[in-house]
Amino acid sequence: HDMPGMSGEDGKTAAPEALPTLPEGAPLRDLPRLANRADEPGRFEAELTAKPAIVRFAEGIDTPILAYNGEAPGPLIEVTEGDKVAIRFANRLFRWETTIHWHGMPVPADQDGNPMDPVLSGGERLYAFELPEGSAGSYWYHPHPHGRTAEQVYLGLAGAFIVKPRQDPIPAAYGDTPLFFTDLRLAADGLIPANTMADLMNGRVGDHVLVNGQKKPTLTLPAGSRRRFRLFNASNARFLHLTFGEAAMTLIGSDGGLLEAPVTGRRTIDLAPGERAEIVVAFDRPGRLVLRTEDVDHGWMGPGRPDMAAELMTVEVTADKAEPAPALPARLRSIADLGSPAVRRRFEFTETMSMGEGGMKMAFLINGTSFDMNRVDVVTKAGQTELWEVVNRADMDHPFHLHGTQFQVAETERDGRVSKAPYRAWKDTVNVARGETVRLLVRQDLPGPRMYHCHILEHEQLGMMGVAEVQA
Ligand code: C2O
Ligand code: CU
Ligand code: CU
Repeated sequence: HDMPGMSGEDGKTAAPEALPTLPEGAPLRDLPRLANRADEPGRFEAELTAKPAIVRFAEGIDTPILAYNGEAPGPLIEVTEGDKVAIRFANRLFRWETTIHWHGMPVPADQDGNPMDPVLSGGERLYAFELPEGSAGSYWYHPHPHGRTAEQVYLGLAGAFIVKPRQDPIPAAYGDTPLFFTDLRLAADGLIPANTMADLMNGRVGDHVLVNGQKKPTLTLPAGSRRRFRLFNASNARFLHLTFGEAAMTLIGSDGGLLEAPVTGRRTIDLAPGERAEIVVAFDRPGRLVLRTEDVDHGWMGPGRPDMAAELMTVEVTADKAEPAPALPARLRSIADLGSPAVRRRFEFTETMSMGEGGMKMAFLINGTSFDMNRVDVVTKAGQTELWEVVNRADMDHPFHLHGTQFQVAETERDGRVSKAPYRAWKDTVNVARGETVRLLVRQDLPGPRMYHCHILEHEQLGMMGVAEVQA
């Protein structure tokens, strides 16, 4: 068990408490919640500690993981737009620095857990920010230390962060169920293996997609139920292609909150690593429905990396009748028009391979360069709308992510054919398929350094990341 993060120099671990075995097929659990210690309304105050823990995915086999407050996924943080948030963070990982990055949220750059602001092993810091009106959405938090993000995330450090609107147009009768997907690879001895060469190349894919930390949980609902789900792809590198079989899905939200209007009749929802979506599903008839992910090729290199089809969750629809639920409103909210861009910028993803002394060396680059946290790659102006053209000239898909703001996809170009985005949506992560160009409307409102990168965390770690300095 001698692994940085898990144990000290002497190989001693923190002797964490053992947890009960997590059986496959058990009822879907609610994510544990981070308790708010503030006594004033409009404030959220809490503590988060990153430290080693043990889970039992199988009887008698202990798996050392890293966890926030002993939980993987980390506790659900739920606040309301407009709230002032203050989270005291303690890094109790052995020998590893870390940060907390508030993925997708409009927090000041110096509170956003950038790799330039590490919390050293044994250290503490306060993350404080105010969430503006209109920022309701399904976000998440995860470490972002220099060169260690991929390991810290697959070892368990990631959690959901929901910002609720003051007025929610989605009927309360639909419930509000987060499904937080993480990807686990487990060796026979119960340990989580380190990344291999193939993992670094194609991104790490595990053997189990966990839902709220569980293997294939079961959700039981009466017939006629309508359910709202928030879907989070918190896996390092697995692309999810979700389907409920016969049950059609209505897409109601993206990374940065609700769409303007529901999009009905969806059979699949694609979520690249880092992406989120909100859906409503009507469970009309009694029976069993399975939420699954389908196998889709994203241009894997070498022997390949099948994003294997897998069953994720079962919904048992009982013969009991649900109370009739109100219909989904036709209009959910309005999304600002960002206007015409003042500046156009180009970001090009490439992969290179070269033979070196230590064997094959790969590089994942943006505009021909590898990440350097002491270099500024682009200088932008706060409040200015820009057109960011993300061009994928590599042989595999790379999901593009930008910190500090939500952008809008304007259009996608493929084989010379341009398709306009069918509807407006706030996004912070978007897949850019091999050979494709995605054009984004971007406006940053807060100054400071902002990272942009491929959200396949192995690629981010290998240098597919840049720094945009936003000037006031
Ligand atoms: Cu989800 Cu740079 O992060
Ligand atoms: Cu982010
Ligand atoms: Cu990538």
